[in-house]
Amino acid sequence: MNILIIGNGGREHALAWKIAQSSLAKKIYVAPGNAGTELTNLIENIDIQDIDLLIQFARERKIDLTIVGPEAPLSQGIVNKFKENNLKIFGPTKEAAQLESSKDFSKRFMKKHGIPTAEYQTFTEPKLAHDYIDKKGSPIVIKADGLASGKGVVVAMTDNDAHNAIDLMLSENQFGNAGARIIIEEYLTGEEASFIVICDGKTVLPLATSQDHKRLLDNDLGPNTGGMGAYSPAPIVTAEIHEKAMNEVIYPTIEGMKKDGIEYTGFLYAGLMIDKNSQIKTLEFNCRMGDPETQPILFRLESDLLKILYDAAQGKLEENMALWENNFSITVVMAAKDYPNKPRFNDEILGLDSKEKDTYIFHAGTKLIGQKVMTSGGRVLGITAKGQTLNEAKNKA
Ligand code: AMP
Ligand code: GLY
Repeated sequence: MNILIIGNGGREHALAWKIAQSSLAKKIYVAPGNAGTELTNLIENIDIQDIDLLIQFARERKIDLTIVGPEAPLSQGIVNKFKENNLKIFGPTKEAAQLESSKDFSKRFMKKHGIPTAEYQTFTEPKLAHDYIDKKGSPIVIKADGLASGKGVVVAMTDNDAHNAIDLMLSENQFGNAGARIIIEEYLTGEEASFIVICDGKTVLPLATSQDHKRLLDNDLGPNTGGMGAYSPAPIVTAEIHEKAMNEVIYPTIEGMKKDGIEYTGFLYAGLMIDKNSQIKTLEFNCRMGDPETQPILFRLESDLLKILYDAAQGKLEENMALWENNFSITVVMAAKDYPNKPRFNDEILGLDSKEKDTYIFHAGTKLIGQKVMTSGGRVLGITAKGQTLNEAKNKA
């Protein structure tokens, strides 16, 4: 099969790397990809971002399946357009992707279908939002409605921080349209986990569990980032929590979408908060794999990912088709200087040829200039390793 993968992050390198191991794979194109995908056997980068041009490319190169990594093209309707052109693609439609692209949509959806989540209200008027903070008090959470690359959430520990967040989003337009509408929600405590499944519209296949590390620095300090690392499995997701997540969150979401006239096909990622009484609440939905969660998850997958996704794209997914290695894996992100504020680009990366057993270096913000691998993004590499214990994996990474 000829495969096209959309995206350029560590997630897409991991997807392409895993798919390249499938006996079904002939040629894999990544648009636009990074230095890591460019340097991998069977994989070729193509510099196309425009959806219509991607459709033309998929036709010309006889692409059998397209897989979408990031949220932006999903929310722009790449899946709708490929399907209109009779091209096979795995991912949610624009309508289904609203679960991620609008927090207001996803909160209303959860409330309507009884999916556990934090109490909230939606605001467009600064004054009403400020009044609400005065009434509720901190800690409290302010979220931009639209896509903001993981930066649209402020967990305000003081009233002052909450008022400032409202000003930034609603009055100063710091997030543009994404922040023209905000939601303010109850502050939840507990431990987070990333719960990701594959869905073909009817059948759900849960992937191995994982947990990502959002803060920039060690010991949960520093600002939130897209994710500085992740490991799999997440021990916090016990068998009991797993069952709860499926029954209280995942199945009602797929069913609820169906009731609302939207078939859900694609990856579905529920960010869960698990409290000390093992109650779960949904912090957010993503309509894609996590980054960096994909890297440690796929590092443990024994089964053929291409077969799974190809079957899923045709509505032929089976619940038990994924087998996992019985171990732990971890990805530690190496980021550019001054990430996430003003990452420095164009530094040469050395040492990439290290070939430790049970490790792999996934690229994210890298590009090839001549023979040199240079930094070109905030998160640069995902050093991934596995071991019999989480500590062993961590030390190796
Ligand atoms: P989100 O993009 O909605 O997942 O938010 C990003 C991060 O903000 C989450 O992973 C949590 O660490 C934190 N967060 C979001 N909502 C809440 C909440 N209601 N209570 C506490 N922390 C939250
Ligand atoms: N690592 C969090 C995300 O992909 O949204």
